[in-house]
Amino acid sequence: MSDRLLIFDTTLRDGEQAPGIALSPTEKVAIARQLARLQVDIIEAGFAASSPGDFEAVSRIAREVKGPTIASLARTHPDDIDKAAEAIKEAESRRIHVFISTSAIHMESMLRMTESEVMTAVVESVKRAKSYCDDIEFSPQDATRTNPDFVVATCQAAVKAGATTINIPDTVGYAMPADFVELMTRVYNEVRAGNEDVVISTHCHNDLGMAVANSLSAIHAGARQIEGAINGIGERAGNTSTEEIIMAIKTREDYFGVEIGADTTQIVETSRLVSRLTGYPLQYNKAVVGRNAFAHESGIHQHGVLRDRLTYEIMDPEMIGHHSSIILGKHSGRAAFADALSKMDINLEDDDFTRAFDRFKELADRKGKITEEGIRAIVAAETGVATDEAKLVGIHLSGGDHELPTAVVKLDHGDGEIAEYEASGDGMVNAAFVAVQDAFGILATLVDYRVSPLTSGADAMAEVNVIIQIESETYSGRGVSTDVVEGSARAFVAALNKAVGAATIFTTEE
Ligand code: KIV
Ligand code: ZN
Repeated sequence: MSDRLLIFDTTLRDGEQAPGIALSPTEKVAIARQLARLQVDIIEAGFAASSPGDFEAVSRIAREVKGPTIASLARTHPDDIDKAAEAIKEAESRRIHVFISTSAIHMESMLRMTESEVMTAVVESVKRAKSYCDDIEFSPQDATRTNPDFVVATCQAAVKAGATTINIPDTVGYAMPADFVELMTRVYNEVRAGNEDVVISTHCHNDLGMAVANSLSAIHAGARQIEGAINGIGERAGNTSTEEIIMAIKTREDYFGVEIGADTTQIVETSRLVSRLTGYPLQYNKAVVGRNAFAHESGIHQHGVLRDRLTYEIMDPEMIGHHSSIILGKHSGRAAFADALSKMDINLEDDDFTRAFDRFKELADRKGKITEEGIRAIVAAETGVATDEAKLVGIHLSGGDHELPTAVVKLDHGDGEIAEYEASGDGMVNAAFVAVQDAFGILATLVDYRVSPLTSGADAMAEVNVIIQIESETYSGRGVSTDVVEGSARAFVAALNKAVGAATIFTTEE
């Protein structure tokens, strides 16, 4: 048995299925590039047949991101497989991941298919996928609630049809470590027999908080691929956390005895990027990447760590990419800003650099000092913006108390012409939202709105993340400011710019 464990990251597919996440293709490419720096083995870039946006994102990642194998998910439908194959065709190394449900409840209530119909679909779809590429993964969805004999039978049929990885999903997070090991051992012994090159994989959900434990327990049963998502994002309670798996294997090499290829120093950066772009904040006590993961509060602990870090720390913070904090001030110039970015491993194109630097100067003038977190937030908000997109130039607020809150926003529509839009609303943020909608001439619904402080103190800088809905599509946007209403207006403008951009892509494609 090989002692190399493959890390399969599905942040961009299963992770992105979490409620309220709406990543644009450009944001997905940015995350995929960072996953490549983290050196995961496989990136599941999306579900190409699910929407034109997903197809575009998978195709761009396949074309632009080098290093890991790029996978697309597909149902057993011929059209799904053809679209997956088309989307990944330019990847250096590619995989099609075919799945179908095998539990009685899913087959009866969702698929309305019999066992024998499911079996036929497995064989035909894997064969079709194999006609496009060699590397095929098969997953019997809801495996842990499926009759184990049927799990084994479908997996054996998939391997016979050409599958090279067999993935066992605990789709609803139902399994306990001991029964998961039992199922994995059966699959290992009965599916891999005579097919020693086939890799057995796990894909666990976290409904009962067992995802990481179940995935790791499968290593002793022969699993050599674990699927996860950064920060554990995903459907309902989420997926196995990729970063927790990586650090468990690295920290307890003595126990697991397997090797992985990940560059652990990229973990913090990857986690922050995913949190920022998805708008999903990290819980403070999140394992490995939470803000308290290396904080010591009690006097006894602090005393111990000062004497010897190993008294209360099992991981070296530098190993996962924490480094001493960078702080810039209003006197910092382009060179200092560029130096800080390079220490943070951030490389920007000229236009993006100029936008981020100008915004940094504006905020540093108001705020004095900007921390590393603030710089990252500015970069995230100001980069990847096309030069012809609308920009917020100013905002003026009036009213409140007994008068109707009113916002006047000044917008440069991307052509240098500045126009003013005035609106009133139920509170300042609402007034700003209505004025920005008027500026774009688009009616949107605000479905999610979050403010995260980037620094402490009354003059704290805040990052605002919004998700808006226009008809059935959702778009995210973020803004950074020392003023929450201005930050909100910036976030609304960013989200509406995305909506306009998406409309342009899809109208020109059709
Ligand atoms: O949870 C699940 O069953 C899945 C499959 C598509 C692998 O995500
Ligand atoms: Zn899943």
